[in-house]
Amino acid sequence: MNYEDKIKSSETHVFKVVFPNTTNHHNTMFGGKVMEMMDEVAFMTATRFARKAFVTVSCDRIDFKKPIPANTLVELIGKVRYVGNTSVKVNVEVYIEEMYEDVREKAISGDFTFVAIDENKKPTRIFEK
Ligand SMILES: CC(C)(COP(=O)(O)OP(=O)(O)OC[C@H]1O[C@@H](n2cnc3c(N)ncnc32)[C@H](O)[C@@H]1OP(=O)(O)O)[C@@H](O)C(=O)NCCC(=O)NCCS
Repeated sequence: MNYEDKIKSSETHVFKVVFPNTTNHHNTMFGGKVMEMMDEVAFMTATRFARKAFVTVSCDRIDFKKPIPANTLVELIGKVRYVGNTSVKVNVEVYIEEMYEDVREKAISGDFTFVAIDENKKPTRIFEK
């Protein structure tokens, strides 16, 4: 598989229900919970892209544009945005979907960078030259 095909096929979509155990006192999703879910989806995307052992090294600005109400669905979409020597940057978008109407809007976007590590936990090249 070539590089562009790997980027395309590693695009990762995960749906979740916004159940009460994920919300805050405003009855919207707790920001820290969304960030955890985003990091996990980004990690899955990086792993499915390169099939290497990755650790999170940084996350860039995360924009919370809309509150995510309880009793909705969310879709998280991870896409590889940049590939370095040992690092890969993944963008994650979060969409809100109403459960009983065809209504959908983007709520959050952020970038996560992962580094591939070897058995000594040192950075290792993602692809051989
Ligand atoms: C990730 C880790 C192995 C990197 O080791 P390091 O010696 O700092 O790495 P280097 O300076 O050699 O950089 C390796 C790559 O990471 C990138 N990088 C390092 N710090 C970064 C940062 N803050 N933001 C973005 N990229 C970063 C470098 O640009 C380089 O990318 P490239 O090879 O594609 O050009 C090390 O910092 C670490 O173990 N961190 C803890 C990770 C962790 O526990 N995460 C949470 C749990 S998963």
